[in-house]
Amino acid sequence: MRLKSLVFAAVAGCLGLSVAVAQEEPQALRQSQMKAVGGAIGALGGIAKGQKPYEAAAVTAALTTISTTMKAFPNQFPEGSQTGSESEAAPAIWQNKTDFEAKAQKLAAEADSLLAAVPVDAAGVGAAMRTLGGTCSDCHQTYRMKK
Ligand code: HEC
Repeated sequence: MRLKSLVFAAVAGCLGLSVAVAQEEPQALRQSQMKAVGGAIGALGGIAKGQKPYEAAAVTAALTTISTTMKAFPNQFPEGSQTGSESEAAPAIWQNKTDFEAKAQKLAAEADSLLAAVPVDAAGVGAAMRTLGGTCSDCHQTYRMKK
């Protein structure tokens, strides 16, 4: 009985540990950051296409997600995280860190200037999306591998 509970505690401990490690992996973190940014763009797209009603609060929330996420994103590429978690990060990131960071910063800056003058209707949201979308593809072309 005593042995059984000890074993159980050990197994539970291991499981808890591996979950914590998986969450802190930069590969997984940066992928979930990109998913959040993708979700924010999707929300703006829904409004631009008229699938969702225009709401200033929703637009502000999406732009805020893009801005804050892109400021933290370039920190998730330490040496040794080139591969793993089915990462699509291109080796060029580690060869051109400054340029990669500048591209992330550019997207954050675009989101910030849109936050300073939030688009007031669906057409405005569409125009903002085109600006932001160009910056997504610009970085993906060089720094995200097609799988
Ligand atoms: C500074 C460069 C950069 C910018 C700007 C950028 N991305 Fe990415 N994106 C990446 C990289 C690198 C990956 C691959 C990350 C990995 O797998 O480790 C990625 C992956 C993704 C993924 C896949 C995430 C997953 O693993 O499921 C989505 C979705 C995505 N980006 C959307 C966007 C959108 C939308 C924008 C613009 C609003 C954007 N990205 C802007 C570099 C960038």
